[in-house]
Amino acid sequence: MALVNAKEMLNKAKAGHYAVGQFNINNLEWTKAILLTAQEMNSPVILGVSEGAGKYMCGYNTVVGMVKGMIETLNITVPVALHLDHGSYEGAKACIEAGFSSIMFDGSHYPIDENIAKTKELVAICEEKGLSIEAEVGSIGGEEDGVVGAGECADPDECKMIADLGVTMLAAGIGNIHGKYPANWAGLSFETLAAVQEKTGTMPLVLHGGTGIPADMIKKAISLGVSKINVNTECQLAFQEATRKYIEAGKDLEGKGFDPRKLLAPGVEAIKATVKEKIELFGSANKA
Ligand code: 13P
Repeated sequence: MALVNAKEMLNKAKAGHYAVGQFNINNLEWTKAILLTAQEMNSPVILGVSEGAGKYMCGYNTVVGMVKGMIETLNITVPVALHLDHGSYEGAKACIEAGFSSIMFDGSHYPIDENIAKTKELVAICEEKGLSIEAEVGSIGGEEDGVVGAGECADPDECKMIADLGVTMLAAGIGNIHGKYPANWAGLSFETLAAVQEKTGTMPLVLHGGTGIPADMIKKAISLGVSKINVNTECQLAFQEATRKYIEAGKDLEGKGFDPRKLLAPGVEAIKATVKEKIELFGSANKA
C-alpha cells in the first residue's frame, strides 16, 4: 500500500476507542522493525521523524525514498503514514515538498495568535495536497532532539481555537513529558484532557511522551479521547539494552559476530517486541 495520510486511521481509531501508535524512526533498522511489526499485527502505523532524525538520515528526501522502498519491497499492506514530529514552520514545508503524508507543526512555543496564524497557513497547504496535520497547544515537557518543552497543561479554549482551524489531530499538553518520567511525576492531568475533548468535540487527540506511561493511564487517556500515542525513547532504550547485552556477552567477538547485520539484530528484535507490546496496549491490532 502507498503511504497514506493519518486522517482515516485516526477517525477510525476515534470511533473504535483505540489509539494508533506513532513510533519514531532513526535509521533503516528502526524503520524495518516497525513496519514489519505493524504488518504482523495487522495494525495501522505512523512513522514519526523529528527534524534531528531527518537530518541524521540524510534529509527528508532520503527518508521518503527509504520508507517507500521498504513498503514496496517488504510488501507492507497496512496503512502507513510518514509524519514529521514537532516540526518547525520551515521543516513542515520541507516535508510537504519531500513527499511526507503527514506533518506536525509545533507552534506551542509561539504566542497563541502566532501559533494560530502559522497553523492556519499550513492547514490550507495540507488540505490542498491531501496531507494530515497535527498541531500543538501547551508544550510537552522534557527534551526531544533539541526541542525543549516546559510540560504545561493546555488551555482548553486555546485548543478549541486551533482545532477549529481544521487540523486533523491535536496534541494538547496534559502534564506529559518526553523521555523517562521522573520518580516524582504527578501523572497525566485527566481533568485537562476531558476539558480539551469537551471543547474540541470529536477531534482526535494526541498523547506525546508515550514512554513509561503506565498501562492504566494509557487506557484511561484513550477512553477520554486520545487516538494517537507517540513512542520514541522506549524503542531507543530497548535497542540499547539488547545491544549492550550482546556486546557484554562477547558475542561480537565470536565468529562473524562483528557483522553489523548480526550486531544490530538483537536491538532490532527488541524494537519489534516493544512495538508489538504497544500496539496490543493501544488496541490497534487487526484494525488495518
Ligand atoms: P517519548 O520519547 O517519551 O516516547 O516521546 C515520544 C514523542 O512524544 C514523540 O513526539
